[in-house]
Amino acid sequence: MVIVRDYESFLVERQKLQGSIGFVPTMGALHSGHLSLIKRSKAECDNTIVSIFVNPTQFLEGEDLDKYPRKDEADKKICQLAGVDILFMPTVDSIYSNDELVIMAPKVRGFILEGAKRPGHFDGVLQVVMKLLNIVSPTHAFFGKKDAQQLALISQMVKDYFMHTKIVPCDIIRDEKGLALSSRNVYLSQDEYNRALSLSRSLKEASYMFAKGLSDVTIIKEKMEQVLLESVDTLEYVAVVDRTFKPLKKVQQDNTIILVAVFVGNTRLIDNIWL
Ligand code: PAF
Repeated sequence: MVIVRDYESFLVERQKLQGSIGFVPTMGALHSGHLSLIKRSKAECDNTIVSIFVNPTQFLEGEDLDKYPRKDEADKKICQLAGVDILFMPTVDSIYSNDELVIMAPKVRGFILEGAKRPGHFDGVLQVVMKLLNIVSPTHAFFGKKDAQQLALISQMVKDYFMHTKIVPCDIIRDEKGLALSSRNVYLSQDEYNRALSLSRSLKEASYMFAKGLSDVTIIKEKMEQVLLESVDTLEYVAVVDRTFKPLKKVQQDNTIILVAVFVGNTRLIDNIWL
């Protein structure tokens, strides 16, 4: 595995690769969720490139940019052992200039749910993903379904801008108790961890209700809110949308995403289920 830190050195290494290129963009602090994306890329592509870049433009004022977990040495080992070909760890200066064009998330999917709670977040995500896809030129890029709205926006950007990368959605990875893996889980105390399990419990409850034949969104949301409010500190939203992020009144088989966002202590957590 080669490790490169700037665009020019990256290009030199990139040119040596032949065949399909799988790309896994990350912000580091790698866990089994990231590893599952890397494994998927290894299974489907001839070469695998991982980037680690804690992207400042997607953090809002007052968010956890400064304390975002950074585990460079452990991350390098994980990538090495996983058989990654190039690990791209650019500096902020090599990615951004002082005065540049910004891509704006579209209103339809960008200004609701995560976009409403974190205004500007998706502009930063799209800006950096556009740059990374242009630098890496992958045939495939692998994104987790946990960030469902991010995945929808990136897929739309790739389509709208005629970019030549296939976006591959990958399943959410959970720990043995059901908590969706996230680099931010390290912030949770034991008590907060136990309370955070209510996210997956509420989603399980929703899918159970749907499996029993109930599709009324109001009733499903009420039940989920009840489960969550017993455990979390702030419930930001429970939403039931179709794959284009249009709110639904009835759950539709194979066209529904149920999403939750909460605070447990000071940690913001999101989770979802695709029905
Ligand atoms: O999902 C993430 O880790 C980030 O939003 C991404 C896609 C790497 C862009 O910084």
